[in-house]
Amino acid sequence: MSRIRQSQDKHIIDAYGVKALKAAHADVQKLKRRGKLPTIHGNKVWASCYAIMDYLQSYPLAENSRVLDVGCGWGVLAAWLAKQGADVVGVDADRHIGDYFALTAEINDVEMQFEHSSFEKIMGSELSTFNVLAGSDICFWDELTPVIFSLIERALSNGVTRVYIADPGRPPFWSLADQCAEAFYGTVETIELTEPRKSSKYLLVIHDD
Ligand SMILES: C[S@@+](CC[C@H](N)C(=O)[O-])C[C@H]1O[C@@H](n2cnc3c(N)ncnc32)[C@H](O)[C@@H]1O
Repeated sequence: MSRIRQSQDKHIIDAYGVKALKAAHADVQKLKRRGKLPTIHGNKVWASCYAIMDYLQSYPLAENSRVLDVGCGWGVLAAWLAKQGADVVGVDADRHIGDYFALTAEINDVEMQFEHSSFEKIMGSELSTFNVLAGSDICFWDELTPVIFSLIERALSNGVTRVYIADPGRPPFWSLADQCAEAFYGTVETIELTEPRKSSKYLLVIHDD
């Protein structure tokens, strides 16, 4: 049972059946007062994560999927995946993100694991324990494109069969999508979200099974 204050409901987004805390939520504010300030854009829940949920609602993962959510941020995608029955690990390079991830797990009453690591450091031996790689809003700097491409390449050569990367359509994402189309027959789907707000997102999909 969550101990998160119900009076804070107005600071919770409920979309796709998963709860996301807003930055104004009292428990988020408490973390900030304790100096836990994310510094690599993990300062809120980013809406691209809903594009992966939207797609997987129509094309569900296999039962018992093990998913690595890279650049997981506050963990709303991870919580949604856990609610679908997946075994989920969220990885993020920001040392403060684990506390926000734990809040999201608590408010959604799900079990999911957090690992403090970075795209560059996730080795093939770890990737071989997953069958799905997911990431939302992670390709936001030009220098991240080769890093994420290389992560996808390592994942696919170590037994991961499905990759989903969602984005609002930034240039580094399109560059990643072009490279993945060439190398792994990746495709890009346009996802028109109606919740939590109307917006267009783009989803790189690689199915290697
Ligand atoms: C824009 S936020 C998106 C967070 C989350 N996926 C979402 O949709 O709400 C980008 C996240 O990627 C993480 N990140 C940035 N560079 C990273 C790296 N090299 N390795 C792992 N995580 C990284 C940040 O700490 C941040 O949480």
